[in-house]
Amino acid sequence: PPLWLVVPAAGQGRRMGAGRPKQYLELGGATILARTLSRLHQAFPQARLVLCLDPDDPWFRPQWVPFAHWQRTDGGRERMDSVLNALQVMAAEPDDMVLVHDVARPCVTTADLQALWQAVSVHPDGALLAMPVADTMKRADARSCVATTEPREGLWHALTPQGFRFELLQQALFQAKTRGLQVTDEASAVESQGRRPLLVPGRRDNLKITHPEDLALATAILAAQKSSLPL
Ligand code: CTP
Ligand code: MG
Repeated sequence: PPLWLVVPAAGQGRRMGAGRPKQYLELGGATILARTLSRLHQAFPQARLVLCLDPDDPWFRPQWVPFAHWQRTDGGRERMDSVLNALQVMAAEPDDMVLVHDVARPCVTTADLQALWQAVSVHPDGALLAMPVADTMKRADARSCVATTEPREGLWHALTPQGFRFELLQQALFQAKTRGLQVTDEASAVESQGRRPLLVPGRRDNLKITHPEDLALATAILAAQKSSLPL
């Protein structure tokens, strides 16, 4: 079935606190948005892209899009609304596959993208890149004192991309929205349908650029990948 890529890129980057949304900051001579799209295109050159952008966004340049088939759609209030908008405008069939990837994750590798695609193709409940939690996990009380230590066993960080059949994803997000559920990723909406997406172990360096110090980290990661990976 055809592959669609949805890239939510309508966030404001408040935690980054730069003069512009973080996807338009430069990382080694290219914007984060351009780098992320380029990584996706290397793995899936034939895919169709739907890019969610703030309608008033003055920074976006179409020359940063390497895909032959792509369209833009307006972002919504929350990430989930942006992704729902994308699903609404896509001319997709129920059995088409959709991968959703944060624009703020430019360090994702071709190998991880392909591993996820493999998993999505065989697992009917969908799949997401993820990594096992390495640190000890504490739950805090209202005063930031430790209430409990949570067993780390079986805990994973959810990364992106996350991939699902179009129909499953659309129904899951629509119902999550209707029921007023707070979902921060696609998988949690799908889980609320009683499904069990597959966790695909991904590289630890697929970081989401969020805070100012992440820019230096991402620069180092890209340099290390360049010297160690055939990208
Ligand atoms: N996003 C979006 N529409 C929104 C909110 C977020 O498309 N209404 C996108 C962001 O552009 C990003 C991804 O969702 O690619 C993950 O969101 P996050 O890392 O939180 O980015 P921002 O919302 O931009 O950052 P912040 O929360 O610090 O403002
Ligand atoms: Mg946000």
